[in-house]
Amino acid sequence: MSSKEPKAQIPRHVAIIMDGNGRWAKQRGLPRLKGHEQGAESVRAAIRACREAGVKYLTLYAFSVENWSRPRAEIAGLMRLLRTFLRDRAQDLHDDHVRLRVAGRIGDLPASVRKELTRVVDETASYRAGTLILALSYGGRAELVDATRAIVNEVTAGTLAPDAIDEATISAHLYLPDVPDPDLLIRTSGEMRLSNFLLWQLSYSELYVTDVLWPDFREEEFRMALSSYAGRHRRFGGVS
Ligand code: FPP
Repeated sequence: MSSKEPKAQIPRHVAIIMDGNGRWAKQRGLPRLKGHEQGAESVRAAIRACREAGVKYLTLYAFSVENWSRPRAEIAGLMRLLRTFLRDRAQDLHDDHVRLRVAGRIGDLPASVRKELTRVVDETASYRAGTLILALSYGGRAELVDATRAIVNEVTAGTLAPDAIDEATISAHLYLPDVPDPDLLIRTSGEMRLSNFLLWQLSYSELYVTDVLWPDFREEEFRMALSSYAGRHRRFGGVS
């Protein structure tokens, strides 16, 4: 994330499914939380790599709606990590003029996490060098349900005609309507799945899946993903 204008072959928006923390820990005979801790270091590396390359938006799938079904101790550990990250790393965002935003059913998060999130989101709201988006208690289907409810409310109130609903209407009712769709989706640890992430927004995104586990995905790996993207030819369903 940088104030430089992004070059044509640099994605404006990168979204990441950060997978493989548990496997990374298991391979080393460590508790899963150790994998998440190393994963948090990879989050810092991804933010740095975006700044250096000129990527303007970075969206990280940090906690899905499905993740609430994990063991209580793991959820508590992840929430603690998130709080620590927000407390200790907020200064990095200030230094680099990076704005923090969140996407998801934020009301589901513990009050202590919400408080830290709100503080950092508010404090960084005026920055424009880059935007870091944390997807928290996020689900792509849940987002579409929430958008549909908001649209139906407007129709019921008589402020929106059903015939006027088009793709732009749906986009405008998503959690962060002003954020451009991701150009590149990165998924670590080899699974070929979207896992309910940004279902609407990823329609035309380029995909990059690597076997590298998230805790091992550092700047060099990020640069490899960007270099793969730079070689892509995007057609958006047309011919060329
Ligand atoms: C997937 O690995 C990862 C998560 C569910 C959580 C991601 C969280 C972090 C990277 C740490 C903290 C985040 C921030 C923003 C500070 P997994 O547990 O599903 O791994 P597995 O598939 O190998 O079990």
